[in-house]
Amino acid sequence: MRKKIVAGNWKMNTSIAEGTLLAKQISFLTKELEANVEVIIAPPFTHLAGISSLLKQEASKVSLSAQNCADQLSGAYTGEVSVKMLEDIGCKYVIIGHSERREYYGETNAILLKKIELALSAGLSPIYCVGEKLNEREENRHFEVVAEQIKEVLYMLKGFDMNRVVVAYEPVWAIGTGKTATSDQAEEMHAYIRRVIGNKFPTLADEISILYGGSCKPSNAVELFGKENVDGGLIGGASLSAQDFIAIIKSF
Ligand code: 13P
Repeated sequence: MRKKIVAGNWKMNTSIAEGTLLAKQISFLTKELEANVEVIIAPPFTHLAGISSLLKQEASKVSLSAQNCADQLSGAYTGEVSVKMLEDIGCKYVIIGHSERREYYGETNAILLKKIELALSAGLSPIYCVGEKLNEREENRHFEVVAEQIKEVLYMLKGFDMNRVVVAYEPVWAIGTGKTATSDQAEEMHAYIRRVIGNKFPTLADEISILYGGSCKPSNAVELFGKENVDGGLIGGASLSAQDFIAIIKSF
């Protein structure tokens, strides 16, 4: 059975005090939930140490993720944070290939492959983001774009590594726009992604969790998560409210 996952990507939001409070609230509210959903939060780098000790202290069910990592293991890379540092600080996951990283920081599939390989070697599970831009969907190239993002990165991994990868489908036109993909659009793409993964990893495709991201909120999560190939969500804006985030988690 594949894992159900709801992950909150806080992006570059919250002060340390706000983030710590948010993590505390989420940790508290997840205590009463059944154990069949993995809850992940991805705060900014500066918050990870404090929130990691908080989650440990509370023996929390919430797992910690980073939003990015360096594409090098260590050394003279000013401003970068390595996968080992993230593992050391208590992260279990790292988001890789978010469209904001691809778009604003020029991260190519080649760079993302390096990051995923490093993350896996450090014992982290990558949450690998794929998704098309609005013009690519309008030109009916969305399947082609997403297939390329999978083939140039995930096809290069070994099966036993692929087993630890989580995929997030985030149509760029739906991120932060309030314009969610319909549940049918999401299901169509998720089923396609599973087929593309299955062409290379036939025995694994059914085990890989594929999350939906892009204006997911309490009002649409039930319908999205009700689809056969939608195994959860990667939540941006709505993950900054503990109440909304928990309502989304309860949507399974
Ligand atoms: P929003 O939920 O704010 O649209 O962001 C989605 C996202 O980018 C999560 O990584």
